[in-house]
Amino acid sequence: MQTTLLDYFPERTVGNGAALLQAGRLVAFPTETVYGLGADARNAAAVAQIYQVKGRPSDNPLIVHIAEERQAEELAEVSPLARHLMAAFWPGPLTLVLPLRPGSLPAVTTGGLNTVGLRMPAHPAALQLLREAALPVAAPSANLSGRPSPTEAEHVLTDMQGKIPLIINGGECLAGLESTVLDLASPVPAILRPGVLTAADLTEFLPGLSEQTRLPDGGIARAPGMKYRHYAPQAKVLLCPPQQLYQTYCQHYQQMVEAGNEQPRIAVLATMQGLTGLAQAEQCFLLGENLLQVAQNLFAALRWTDEIQADLVLAEAFPEQGVGIAIMNRLKKAAGIN
Ligand code: TXA
Ligand code: MG
Repeated sequence: MQTTLLDYFPERTVGNGAALLQAGRLVAFPTETVYGLGADARNAAAVAQIYQVKGRPSDNPLIVHIAEERQAEELAEVSPLARHLMAAFWPGPLTLVLPLRPGSLPAVTTGGLNTVGLRMPAHPAALQLLREAALPVAAPSANLSGRPSPTEAEHVLTDMQGKIPLIINGGECLAGLESTVLDLASPVPAILRPGVLTAADLTEFLPGLSEQTRLPDGGIARAPGMKYRHYAPQAKVLLCPPQQLYQTYCQHYQQMVEAGNEQPRIAVLATMQGLTGLAQAEQCFLLGENLLQVAQNLFAALRWTDEIQADLVLAEAFPEQGVGIAIMNRLKKAAGIN
């Protein structure tokens, strides 16, 4: 299959994107978080292709993207609290898990659950596509399962070339990490996946909302031993506080040389603070100067370690506060910690 990469220009149409979705085909599109791989959420055969193309376990539910709040009412039971959150944060990087209106979506879209995750993305290309298609669009991140999520159209092309007909190129994603997933369908609201929109951002509406992430089944996401690695580059990933990066780099370099690797390629992903003293490390990726920049650059950095065929990845560890919670959630998964 020929994969077309189409540049998006504000106020223009998105080519044949809407027509492809309406015909049950897959379209990759930019959002403000990461690129999504979209299909008509109401079309079971179209949604099944998403799982097939990504190689994704089919019990993992998809987020359904909409352009109008009215569509949320058609798909889910929308509480007054949900309505307030939509007014405050949509379009934006917040996914709301709500009770599903029975029969409104096929089981393949919701992973067979009686709830649905809904989100209105803030990227103009995504909104344009959703409006033109006039459909709810199921869209996971547009990466192969297990790989870092794509934050540039080129990343999508790397993973999806020949597998889907169209990628809409809307440039680099602003947030860089997937949306915050907030469960409003359980008796106690909880964050299921942290994002750049933090618990603190939501407290005005949800006083007492915990910063701790809860697993959809009620467990606590910090528990060790998750089933599979996620966001993972080819090389092993180690996390390290900034003040110890230099020392850790030297230790591993020496160990690898002693083990017979004459020129170990250790990729270092860090802020300026973490890179101090590492001038001799050849493979450095500056993540940025603040947590929002780190979030924006993190997945590109992880993908870069594959491009340079790193033997080992050393990534700076961040304090688990605010946006640092979402960054560490992804980094720990990349490192296979949880
Ligand atoms: O930013 C994003 O959310 C991106 C862009 C493309 O919108 N999408 C995305 O989708 O990250 P995906 O499929 O990679 O992640 C969906 C997450 C999964 O962790 C899934 O388990 C959770 O949302 N989820 C979806 N529906 C759910 C539901 N009904 N109950 C609990 N969790 C749900
Ligand atoms: Mg994903």
